[in-house]
Formats: sequence, structure tokens, C-alpha cells
Amino acid sequence: MPSALSLVPGLQKAPPRDLSLPMKAVLRERPGYASGKPKLMVCINERVPTEGVSCAPRGGCKIHEAIVQALQAEPLDIEVATTRCLGTCDKGPALRLAPNNSWFYGAHVEDVPQIVDHLRSAAGEYRDWLARQPAG
Ligand code: FES
Repeated sequence: MPSALSLVPGLQKAPPRDLSLPMKAVLRERPGYASGKPKLMVCINERVPTEGVSCAPRGGCKIHEAIVQALQAEPLDIEVATTRCLGTCDKGPALRLAPNNSWFYGAHVEDVPQIVDHLRSAAGEYRDWLARQPAG
């Protein structure tokens, strides 16, 4: 069955992100309207190769393991979860931190210290937000 993209004349699907490229990080501060604990979602989706690229075969599971290990050594007030697709498959392995809406594309295990740096910053923003909440 043709994909939706193949039904559009002249529209070509972009090739997946080259994994030899450095990770691309889109870092954002915690938005003022946000409430609750930060949550990092790590895509570990594994798709049949004929159906397109996915994050697990590109290293998503290893990145998740490395982040969990790093946070065991340095606990932060951050929830870490795996997920089945963040909708940016061609750029994966993909990770998203909410509520900041920070993204990491094409991450490698070697990038985990940089990711944890941002988690540390997000945990600090959360701590500051908690401190501003009325007692009750
Ligand atoms: S498979 Fe990871 S973002 Fe879609």
C-alpha cells in the first residue's frame, strides 16, 4: 500500500538524520505557566525496517539506560520514561523534556552528560517553582 507521502506528486521523504552528525539540542527554559515535575521521554520505538526508521535501532534504548544510570549516581527531581514515538522518527534517537519542550535529536550515549546537564538545570527550575508555591 502506498504511503500518504507517495500519493503527493513531487513530495520526497527526507532521508533520516545522519548519525555521524553531532546531537542537535533545542534547549528551552521552563515556561511560566508550567506546573509539576519535569519529565524526560526517551523514544525506544522499534519499527520493522521496511516501515521506516525508528529510535531503538539507532540507540534509543542504550541512551535511556545511560541516563537512568547517570541519575542513579546523581538523583535529580526528574521523571524519566520511555515512549513509543515522539513523532520525529527521522531525527532520532529523539528525547523530549516536558514542560520545557526541550528536544534532543540524533543523540548518542556520549551525549548523556550534556543531556544530564540540561536535566540538572530543569530540576533547579522545578525546585525554584516549588519554592514559590503558596504553603498549604
Ligand atoms: S520512532 Fe522515535 S520518534 Fe518516532
